[in-house]
Order: sequence, then structure tokens, then C-alpha cells
Amino acid sequence: MKKTLITLIFFLPVLLFGQKFPNLASTPPMGWNSWNTFKTNINEKLIEDVADAFVKDGYKEAGYKYIIIDDCWSMKQRDAEGNLVPDPAKFPGGMKALADYVHSKGLKIGIYGCAGTRTCGDYPGSKGYEIKDAKLFASWGIDYLKYDWCNTSGLNAEKAYTIMRDALYATGRPIVFGICEWGDNQPWLWAKNIGQLWRISGDIAPCFDCVVDHGSYKDWGVMKVVYMRKDIRKYSGPDGFNDFDMMEVGTGMTENENRSHFTIWSMLASALIMGNDIRTADPPTVAILTNKDMISINQDPLGIQAFKYKDIDSTEVWVKPLKNKEWAVCFLNRKRVPVALEFNWSENKLIDPDFDFKVDFSKEKFNLFSVWTGKQTGTTGETLKTKLEGHNVLVFRLSH
Ligand code: GLA
Repeated sequence: MKKTLITLIFFLPVLLFGQKFPNLASTPPMGWNSWNTFKTNINEKLIEDVADAFVKDGYKEAGYKYIIIDDCWSMKQRDAEGNLVPDPAKFPGGMKALADYVHSKGLKIGIYGCAGTRTCGDYPGSKGYEIKDAKLFASWGIDYLKYDWCNTSGLNAEKAYTIMRDALYATGRPIVFGICEWGDNQPWLWAKNIGQLWRISGDIAPCFDCVVDHGSYKDWGVMKVVYMRKDIRKYSGPDGFNDFDMMEVGTGMTENENRSHFTIWSMLASALIMGNDIRTADPPTVAILTNKDMISINQDPLGIQAFKYKDIDSTEVWVKPLKNKEWAVCFLNRKRVPVALEFNWSENKLIDPDFDFKVDFSKEKFNLFSVWTGKQTGTTGETLKTKLEGHNVLVFRLSH
């Protein structure tokens, strides 16, 4: 009797308010997703090769963990029992065996679903099948669900995502829940107790500053995603992050642009989900994606999203408070051409507009570690004078 009562008291908050699995993403999730490069052209061999590359090329060691199969993995229809069926031409061994393979490498596996009747790629959606699908995913050993928002007319986003959250929770398997409704319903206001991260924009495009207009929708270049929303950084933090979309590092931009893209995602405490073909990535791309000093800024335990401190002509200055009263400071040249940069630290004070962090460089001196050269480079006591190449960044970690 006493035991039943204790169990009841334990589950009461869940029954009354619902729950997501806690502490699945105390820092932004890191991984790889099939969509940006492969779209519908996915299969078991690709996923296995990506898992192998995680281990062989240092991604696992750098902190990447999730290998996420995006849209187009299933048959076009459910089976007679209403179950989703992996396409046997693409995944002949089935998802359980594939999950086992990924797990055997010490990695985790993710899959894609959709809150609507059909996915964005026109495969069966989970509307009305949430419990069935969550159980199936859990039975395969899935660790991460990206849950999309196509074909959802008439649905309330908060309710729809809550239904799937509860279905996942009921399986008893900890599954990261990635909300993907493109920021249309302001998930930063309601999703903290539903998912571990939520997309804030439409889909990213493989360019630094462009917009790709498809008529009824648009894809957004890196900097367009960065500027998509205002005043939402205060909602992002451990276990509930603003998600700036899968990265386009290594899918066609220049090396400087790749570096800047990776830097700004790290500064913004966005999930670091690679979107390139990591099996064939060139050495500069691998070096960018596995830079441990940049990653440690992204993975800082405070989980605070950077804010833009100021513009100096075409150079943007982004700052991110870090644990132990350290800071990350990033200078980003928005122009395609090189610019001269001069920054007298002692004339600057950083005041975080949303969280309680501030520093006055005329009163407090820091050592500068240059993240992309991997070297200590003086202090904030000296004026910074340098040239910044087009679409490139200069990033410092400031410490005492
Ligand atoms: C939407 C999502 C993308 C991708 C595609 C798949 O557009 O935003 O990230 O998952 O669907 O169809």
C-alpha cells in the first residue's frame, strides 16, 4: 500500500503536467543528419559508413554522438497492422540491426517522424499513430527523434508535440525529442518541457548569406538563419536549445565561410549536427568540424546563446558568457573582401542583456586564446589590430 502511494506521488506530476526525459541535452546535441546532402538517397550502408567515419576520422572523439536518419526512410504506406515499415530496398537489415551497429560503435541513432498525416517528403506521418510509432522507435533502440510539421492543418503545435512527447516518455526509453516546426508557432515559449531543442527557422541553404526562393517557401543562408528571430536567446539553455538547423559546413561554401558558419553555430549554442558527406570530407572541413576549442565553447555547461555586442563597420562582434567568468568573443567579417580590424578592449564593456553577466575591460584584464590558431595571443590590455579576410572569423577565449 505504502509502495503504491509512493509510486502514485512520484508519477502525479507526470499525470498532471506531463514530462520529457530530463537531462538528455544538458549541452547542445552533436551529431550528423542525412538530409542536407542525401535527401531521399539514403540507405543502411551509408549510415554504417557514417558511423565508421565517426570513429575513424575523430568525430566521435570530438564529441559527436547522434547519427540521424532524416525523411524518406519508410515505405510509402503503413502495413496492415498500421506499423511504419522501413523501405527494404534502402534498409534491408531493418532498423533494429542498424541501431545495434551504431550502438556497437559507442554512438547513438536518431530517426525522423512528422506530426502531420504525411511527412514533408510524402511518407506516412504519425498523426493518430503516436503511441504505436513511439513504441516501434523504442523497440528498435532509437535515441533521438526529429519530429517535423508538414501536413498538419488544423493541429495545434504545442498539443501535437506534447502527444508525441508523452508517447516517447511512456516507452521508458530516453529519446531526445527535436521539435521541427520551423519557429512558426514560437516553440521557445512553450517547448522547454516538451523537447530538448526546437528549430527556429525554415530550412538552411548551403550559402553564407543568400535566400533560395522556392515560391511557396524559402531556404535560408547561414546568416539569414542567424538573424531570423529577435529576442529569443533568453529562452535557450541546458535541455532546451534554440536549434539553428543542421549545418552546411562542407557542402559547398568556402573554407572561411565554413569556419564562420561553424563558429557562429558554436557561439549560438545551437546543436552541432553535421549535414555534409563526412565520408569524403576534405582535411580543412574535418579540421573545422572537429576543432576541440570551438566545440568546447559550444558545449560550455552554462549553455548560453551568444549575443551580438556591436557592429564595427562590416565586422560583427558576438560574445558568449562561459563558465568560470570566461568569455568567447568572435569578430565576423560580413563582407566578401578583407577588412582592417582595430579593437581597443579597454574602451569596451560587455553587458549581457538577458543574463547576469558583465565585464568592463578597462577594469579587468583577460588572457586571449585564439581559437582557430590554437595559440595564446596576448591580453585585453593591448589594442587588437589585424586584417580579417572576407567572410572569416577571429575568435578568442578570454580567461584569467
Ligand atoms: C523539412 C525539415 C527538413 C527536412 C525535410 C525532410 O523541410 O525542416 O529539415 O527534415 O523536411 O523532408
